[in-house]
Parts: sequence; structure tokens; C-alpha cells
Amino acid sequence: MGNRGLWHHTACLGVAVAALSIGSVASAAPDKGTVSVLNWWTSGSEAKSMNVLSDMLADQGYKMVNDAVSGGGGSNARTVLKSRIQSNNMPGAAQIKGPEIQQWCQAGMAMNIDEVAKQQDWSKILPGPVAKGMQCDGHFVAVPFNLHRINWVWINKSALKKAGATMPSDWNSFVAALDKLKAAGITPIAGGGDTWQVATEFDAIALATGGADFYRNAFVDLKPDALSSDTMVKALSRLRTLQKYEDANDQGLSWNHNTGAVVKGEAGMQIMGDWAKGEITNAGATPGDQVACMAMPGEHSGFVYNADSFEMFKKSNSDKAAQYAFARTALSPEFQRKFNMAKGSIPVREGVSLDGFDACAQKAQSDFEAAEKNNALVPSFSQDMAETGAVKGALFDVIAKFYNNKNMSAEAAAKQMASQAKQAKLMSSM
Ligand code: BGC
Repeated sequence: MGNRGLWHHTACLGVAVAALSIGSVASAAPDKGTVSVLNWWTSGSEAKSMNVLSDMLADQGYKMVNDAVSGGGGSNARTVLKSRIQSNNMPGAAQIKGPEIQQWCQAGMAMNIDEVAKQQDWSKILPGPVAKGMQCDGHFVAVPFNLHRINWVWINKSALKKAGATMPSDWNSFVAALDKLKAAGITPIAGGGDTWQVATEFDAIALATGGADFYRNAFVDLKPDALSSDTMVKALSRLRTLQKYEDANDQGLSWNHNTGAVVKGEAGMQIMGDWAKGEITNAGATPGDQVACMAMPGEHSGFVYNADSFEMFKKSNSDKAAQYAFARTALSPEFQRKFNMAKGSIPVREGVSLDGFDACAQKAQSDFEAAEKNNALVPSFSQDMAETGAVKGALFDVIAKFYNNKNMSAEAAAKQMASQAKQAKLMSSM
């Protein structure tokens, strides 16, 4: 992913000075235009993170209308976006990730934002694959905000202590700690039932069990051999194991509710991307302190990444100048620090200082760099980074079927993954 070796730790001075300029022009400026932004950031920390942007835009004289649609992972927001095309009411920017950026662009909807990209030199300040993902036919059409890591486990340290368990370091000690939590009457893992949350757990398990090559073969290249492999069967069996530690009554509870349960010690752990960290901070706890972070244990290490991004639309209800300001401000060093501190992610812009970020963000950063060196960075299949919606939907269906039917074997689920992914890919290319 480009050379991020010097990332965050150099050029910070220059960056900090440049950052100061945005706010100062600001307050006296008249209303220069409005941008509406469709997104699914509705939890406490997500809303706070988005406010950083509307405040910074307001300081420059622009108004941001925050069209937030609830639902972790964004499936409701996607439905709303599609229906807004029909009613000719497209937002100026919408939260769209991975290959879907290209799909919207191929449909002729995306706005060219090369002018802003050129001013800020996006090809230089963004990691290569991220910069590439924001382009279509050689033109920038979307702006990235951050880098989230998916393969995390969040652990309430007091709950662990109360249960007489120690911090796990591998798969077996992880399961042993879950057993102790269960015996102590504490829900071991918050988050059973909701398909998106279960798929997010499986995302982490798959990398830890099979490693980056397996992950890419299965979820990026959709190779039937990998999807139906013994490794996939092993990963699915691990999901079945973890299911025993989840409360079936958690069905219907949001991811942020579940993070709250871990912060309060009502549950011992949550397997979730580091937007959970945003909620931990927002609840007044310190990530890495009261709530520890651990990469999902298994035979393999690596980093499953997810870059939140916003695609701009040309025929929209927004003003072009405000759309440009939105994109420009999102990649300003000041926004990158403030937003990512609140959101739980790390800056996507290179050269932004991580001073003042919590221990888990520092770990995310160093694990990212290690994974980059070892070719162990993979785009998250559960967060739409690896495939288009149709294929992801097919994989989610199998995961949900497997989770909800305890009689379904891991072998049968792996076989179905291979056949359904292939079919979905075929259908979506027609
Ligand atoms: C997004 C995160 C968001 C999470 C929960 C993920 O797909 O990338 O930014 O916080 O969903 O809503």
C-alpha cells in the first residue's frame, strides 16, 4: 500500500501549521453553498465525528446537511440512496466504499473532483491502493476519510479479572477466557444474531485462521477452491464455537449497544472494527486501558482494512463549491486528526501525527505498517471493500444460514459459499 514508513511521524510540523489556516478564514465568511451528505453514521461517536466536518465547513462559510440513515454497515443507507435517484434528489456526497465507487461512476452519476485532488496532491498524500480506489477512468470521484481495522477484539479488563481469566494470546487461551466469563455469569461475547455483526466477526476469524493469501483467494478473487477449502471449514467451525458464547437474545441489538455492554462489563468482549473504539472513547473509557484491544487471535496475523469514503454526485441537490470544500476539508490534516480521534480509525492521509491518539490507534498504525511489509493487508469483505453488493450479499446469506441453523455443517456452508458467490458474480456481470 505505498510506503507509509514515514507516515504520521514526519512532516507533522508543516502539516500542523497548514491545518490552522482553515478555521481562521472561516467565521466571517458568508454562506457559500450547501452540501448534503448521505451516510450511516448515527451512533454517538459517529455523529460526533461527522460534526467535526460540519463545524469545519461552517467555519469556511459552507453548510453541511447531514442525511444520516441508521443501520450499522450501511444497508439501509444504500437503499435510501437508490430510492433518492428515483425521486431525483441525489445528495452531493454519499458514503460509498470499495468497488461500489466504480459501479456508481460507470452508471454516469459521479462528479469529477480532480481539481481538488490536484490542489492537495492526493496521489502523493494517499496510500496507492486507496488513491486508486477513489478514481474511475483516471479521474477522482470520491474522497477517503480514514482507515479502519476490522480484525479486533475489545475486552473489558475488569470483567476478565472478575472471571479469573487472563488476557488471551492465541485461539486456545481466547476460548479458555470465554469459558471463564461464561462460568462467572458474564455474557462472554456481545453481538450474537445480527447478520452484519456476525459477518464482521467471521471476517476477523477468516484472516486469523487462513492468512492473507487465503483471504484474498477467497474473498477478493472468489476462487472456488479457497471458498470451499478445509481452511474455510476450519474458520466456519470457529464461528460455530464462538456462537456458544453469544447470547441469542442479543438478536436485534445494534453494534454500538453491544460496545456499551462491554464498556459496562455486562459483556466480556466484542469482535468488531475499531468504530467500536469511537464508542468506547465516547463513553468515557480509555481504549487500551479499561477496555483492551487485541487482534483476533489465530495462526495468522495481518490487517483487514476498511476505508470510509464519500463519492460525489454531479446531478445533485448540492452546490459544487460546497462539494469541493467537503472533499478538501476531509483530507485536511486538522480534520484527519480530529475526526479519526473521535471515530476510532487512523488517518488515511500520510504524514499526520498520531500524537495524542490512544494506545489502540498506535497499535493499529504499527500493525498496518507491519502488514504492509508482509503483504498481509487485505480489504474487508464484510465492509464492502472486496466485492460489490451482490457478491457480499451472497456470502452474508450463507453466513446467516449457517449461524441460524446449528444443524448445518461447516462443510456444507463452505460449499455454498463457493457456489453462491460464483452465481452472484455471474449475475452481477450480466
Ligand atoms: C463503516 C464504519 C461505521 C460502521 C458502523 C462500517 O461499515 O465503515 O465507518 O462506523 O460501519 O456503522
